[in-house]
Amino acid sequence: MSKVAIIGAGPCGLSALRSFEQAEKKGEKIPEIVCFDKQEDWGGLWNYSWRTGSDQYGDPVPNSMYRYLWSNGPKECLEFADYSFDEHFGKPIPSFPPREVLYDYILGRVKKGNLKDKVKFNTSVTNVFYNGKNFEISYRDKKNDKISKDTFDYVIISTGHFSVPFIPEYPGMKSFPGRIMHSHDFRDAEEFRNKNVIVLGSSYSAEDVALQCHKYGAKSVTIGFRHNAMGFKWPKGMKEVFHLDKLEGNKAIFKDGYEQEADAIILCTGYLHHFPFLPEDLKLKTGNRLYPPMLYKGVVWQNNHKLMYLGMQDQFHTFNMFDCQAWFARDVIMGKIKIPNDADINKDINKWVSMEEKLENPDQMIDFQTEYTKELHDLSDYPKIDFELIRKNFKEWEHHKVEDIMTYRNKSFPSPVTGSVGPIHHTAWETAMDDSMKTFLK
Ligand SMILES: Cc1cc2nc3c(=O)[nH]c(=O)nc-3n(C[C@H](O)[C@H](O)[C@H](O)COP(=O)(O)OP(=O)(O)OC[C@H]3O[C@@H](n4cnc5c(N)ncnc54)[C@H](O)[C@@H]3O)c2cc1C
Ligand SMILES: NC(=O)c1ccc[n+]([C@@H]2O[C@H](COP(=O)([O-])OP(=O)(O)OC[C@H]3O[C@@H](n4cnc5c(N)ncnc54)[C@H](OP(=O)(O)O)[C@@H]3O)[C@@H](O)[C@H]2O)c1
Repeated sequence: MSKVAIIGAGPCGLSALRSFEQAEKKGEKIPEIVCFDKQEDWGGLWNYSWRTGSDQYGDPVPNSMYRYLWSNGPKECLEFADYSFDEHFGKPIPSFPPREVLYDYILGRVKKGNLKDKVKFNTSVTNVFYNGKNFEISYRDKKNDKISKDTFDYVIISTGHFSVPFIPEYPGMKSFPGRIMHSHDFRDAEEFRNKNVIVLGSSYSAEDVALQCHKYGAKSVTIGFRHNAMGFKWPKGMKEVFHLDKLEGNKAIFKDGYEQEADAIILCTGYLHHFPFLPEDLKLKTGNRLYPPMLYKGVVWQNNHKLMYLGMQDQFHTFNMFDCQAWFARDVIMGKIKIPNDADINKDINKWVSMEEKLENPDQMIDFQTEYTKELHDLSDYPKIDFELIRKNFKEWEHHKVEDIMTYRNKSFPSPVTGSVGPIHHTAWETAMDDSMKTFLK
């Protein structure tokens, strides 16, 4: 019987655990599984931590989520096919839940089984070596500061890629008298009440961190984009300007000539795919894109088919795409899906990569990732789910954001699993200051 290591027990690692559990329930003989996570509990980024920097064992903190974070896409786009929101909460709930609610949902599915026994918590994988036959993995029991080794036939990497911040430097930063931080370390917008905040970036973190600062009372929020402005209709007190040129004292000077006094700079400049435990020949090297190269079907490492990566794409689709990837990886490992020859693998990867390179707008990107996820879905027995409805929901959501960035989270969407429509939340997002599950479900 083969032995599989799953590195990371965030949403992707949990999808992998669930996929094997479902095969076992159908009477199939599954491999021995050991999952490692360096946190003390499962859930990945959704397991909120107040910590920044290092944890109590000297390990870098992977968490990047903050207080009062609400889902930035409709929950109906990420719903699990085999575990609906209605089943978990016992009733339909609004479409944009806060973090704690989604965390509860993710865990609800895995708590039903005996999956926690398979996870070694507080355990950081420090080295993976392929000896030509199998993988030798070294891991550190953080509590006891003890390194151990074990051998595996297959490795699934599900360590996420939004934990190691990309931190650029701009002239004048060294002498800036205020606070400079990356969104990875952002925990609570209250800190910026009555402050002039500069946010750098033009993607989801820039958008949401800027909105959070505005919502919690920042005096002004100025967003500096580098290539493309987000272009939303920002409320009074927020504006978007072209690219930071330099800081002079506490003054931020932008390339379009705009100047703004600043108390804090928040770098929403993205993350690095970072796998310090992998040797060069197994390491995925990519930016945050919809189809990283070297991965067959976005999952199987091109140069070693016993190594799989989950969730390494830039993400419109999340939890149900992770599931489709996990079910696919499981079936490759269990020999139910055959990997084609090198030429066909290359052709398949190149097809997706070249399609991705031609994408021009969010609607096309949504179509691309929906087609990718649908193709994967058709290759395994992952339960039926209405991807056409998910595609439609995503496009409507994008258009709602363009209509009004302050109100898009007040809308509701139909479920691709049960068909039920999320009720309108009792409080508009802009005035909802309490993000607890208790208040949300009231
Ligand atoms: C600020 C922020 C907000 C987001 N909001 C949303 C949202 O609203 N909706 C949405 O769908 N998605 C959101 N996402 C996207 C998010 O990436 C996914 O929802 C999801 O968390 C990805 O799951 P993952 O398992 O790939 O990675 P992660 O959630 O990052 O989990 C990876 C796990 O691997 C573990 N790990 C890492 N290295 C090691 C190691 N060497 N040894 C052992 N364990 C290790 C970590 O401890 C962690 O538990 C957000 C991301 C960020 C950064
Ligand atoms: N639930 C929520 O509300 C929420 C909140 C935050 C984040 N998220 C999630 O978090 C994930 C990561 O999003 P992200 O925005 O952190 O990363 P990202 O999508 O990879 O975007 C990185 C951004 O950094 C910019 N950038 C990089 N280098 C820069 C530089 N030197 N100067 C200025 N800008 C620079 C990029 O600009 P260019 O385009 O110019 O390269 C880009 O806009 C996403 O999955 C998102 O959905 C969700």
